[in-house]
Amino acid sequence: MAGASLIFRRPLPSEAEAFAALHVQCWQESYTEIVPKELMATFTSTTRLPMWQTAIPNLERFVLGAYVDHQPAGFVISGSTPEKHVENQDGHLWGIYILEAYKGKGIGRSLVQYAHADWAARGGTSMTVGVLAENKAARLFYEKLGARFVRDGEYEWSGHRLKDCIYIWNDLNTGYNFKTAELPNSSSGHRFK
Ligand SMILES: CC(C)(COP(=O)(O)OP(=O)(O)OC[C@H]1O[C@@H](n2cnc3c(N)ncnc32)[C@H](O)[C@@H]1OP(=O)(O)O)[C@@H](O)C(=O)NCCC(=O)NCCS
Repeated sequence: MAGASLIFRRPLPSEAEAFAALHVQCWQESYTEIVPKELMATFTSTTRLPMWQTAIPNLERFVLGAYVDHQPAGFVISGSTPEKHVENQDGHLWGIYILEAYKGKGIGRSLVQYAHADWAARGGTSMTVGVLAENKAARLFYEKLGARFVRDGEYEWSGHRLKDCIYIWNDLNTGYNFKTAELPNSSSGHRFK
């Protein structure tokens, strides 16, 4: 990524289709081995589009894109949750995905730090995340970023029972303070909404 520009910003409503396509590509690159084929087949730009059309303009949701050379390369979605995985929990990280070509370069860490900073700025104190039990790479990533394992679980998606587990961050303001977060050298133009 040497020489490439890296920018974090909220996607525009007109970018919903680009983010739906990015979401699908990330699934295909990362989930083929761990998500049933039939479920993968339901995950298309068309089925994802309504979620993006709803999420981007919803300012209750934190939606942040990572753009490499102005092209969407990853994203995080976080915010409140009606489903409490843990007593006293208030925030949830709904999804974080990065294209294979840009994994391992610190973009995921930055996206989580931004999500934490946003939630803390809204008065939040904690954030959970659900991850497929077999997604060892993401589990290691969350553990590296200080998330604590809470429990194993199971959820249903389009008729498929998937094993997952819940992690929590209780230290939004201390462990990952946005003001002290190190961002990649090439970053510029950060904004939350
Ligand atoms: C998981 C994911 C978001 C991580 O983002 P990333 O940009 O690749 O991670 P970063 O480069 O910011 O890494 C942050 C830290 O986590 C560690 N880490 C990242 N991926 C790891 C892995 N697969 N195994 C072990 N450690 C890992 C890094 O070593 C780094 O620690 P360091 O700074 O001490 O070296 C990204 O790989 C991804 O999009 N995966 C596919 C989608 C997915 O599974 N999303 C989660 C759904 S719940």
